[in-house]
Amino acid sequence: MAKQQVNPNPSSKLEWFEDRLPLISFMKAELVDYPAPKNLNYAWNFGSLAGIALILQILTGFFLTMHYKADAGLAFDSIQHIMRDVNWGWLIRNLHMVGASFFFIVVYIHIGRGLYYGSYKSPREILWGMGVLIFFLMMATAFLGYVLPWGQMSFWGAQVITNLISVIPLVGDDIVIWLWGGYGVNDATLTRFYSLHFLLPFVILGVVFLHLWALHNRKVKSNNPTGIDLKKDTDFVPFHPYYTIKDTFGLAVYMLPFLFMVFYMPDYLGHTDNYIPADPMTTPAHIVPEWYFLPFYAILRAINFNILFLDSKLLGVIAMVSSIAILFILPILDKSKVRSARFRPIYKVMFWAFIANFFFLGWLGAKPAEQPYTAMSQVATALYFGFFLALPWIAKIEKTKPLPTSI
Ligand code: HEM
Repeated sequence: MAKQQVNPNPSSKLEWFEDRLPLISFMKAELVDYPAPKNLNYAWNFGSLAGIALILQILTGFFLTMHYKADAGLAFDSIQHIMRDVNWGWLIRNLHMVGASFFFIVVYIHIGRGLYYGSYKSPREILWGMGVLIFFLMMATAFLGYVLPWGQMSFWGAQVITNLISVIPLVGDDIVIWLWGGYGVNDATLTRFYSLHFLLPFVILGVVFLHLWALHNRKVKSNNPTGIDLKKDTDFVPFHPYYTIKDTFGLAVYMLPFLFMVFYMPDYLGHTDNYIPADPMTTPAHIVPEWYFLPFYAILRAINFNILFLDSKLLGVIAMVSSIAILFILPILDKSKVRSARFRPIYKVMFWAFIANFFFLGWLGAKPAEQPYTAMSQVATALYFGFFLALPWIAKIEKTKPLPTSI
């Protein structure tokens, strides 16, 4: 066997470098030669789009930090300063603000693709689990970021959401006070939320690296629209140029609505109350979270009844957290041998019903917590969990369509 040693007489500076740190060959193996199934459709664009959206958030966020003031007395005005006085500040802020919404749109579609084509099934359980973790981290980051402009919704949203932690028996109240750094949301809360909002995107970046490592593992690789295991070399094409071109095209299409919103309607997805400075003495008429939290907010509020000694508030928080955490165990719940919904007639209908119900929950989340919306939220919450809990039985009774032998 040849000795694994560096070449003492490298033919080029590149070889000298590569012998010591094989960075170029690593990039080439993962981004150029990576064997990708040749039949991937546009639903597979959303992973790379999510990556670009994350980078854009980090870059624009970094420039915002140069002018933002994490001080309860200055934060609101510093945002106005960015919008009015800082060169291109309005653009940087709009890109960051609209970028957050678009990041969620992209990741929701990315998750939906995974659900439809069964990408969470073996051997991609860890890849999927990393994704769910990223989703939790994204939600935390977005929540923390929304507090920073220190408007009315920032303040009262933070108040409502941090208060949820008080449901933890015995220690809940103490944890909330510790988290606030005082006896209510205050200046100390703002500064620590700012630190965390700066930190978490880099944690997400790290988990994305693991996510991609799990994907590029040669024993795993990408799923494909048929969901079947690919065995022949001819089923794959090198990532470059086939998917670099396709991803670039996808990015160009994505940029059209994204930049349209950035330039023409940057506040459309936000709440007008956040242009009123935070006022601890005035509660807004309706406290509504950002649109991407609405389905989960509806689940939280749907539980307005106690069960035995368990308080409705505690149950609501448990329901809300479980509605996302249940994704972790999806690979265990869905025992069907067939991955893609293309060949699963019952699952396909369930999937689309689940999506429709998810939109319905989102709509309900924006409504006031009163009848008939509460009753509707309860039904929609039951349907939401019903989807997951029915999967073990569906796998047993479903007659799947014959699978193709190759792509
Ligand atoms: C920052 C957020 C995320 C980034 C940057 C990201 C990135 C990627 C990329 C680049 C791919 C390969 C291309 C593709 O298949 O689309 C991928 C695949 C995948 N991702 Fe993500 N992802 C993110 C979040 C998530 C989330 C939240 C989930 C699920 C809860 C998830 C689940 C998956 C799965 C299952 C695959 C394999 C898909 C397949 O081969 O069919 N990802 N991800």
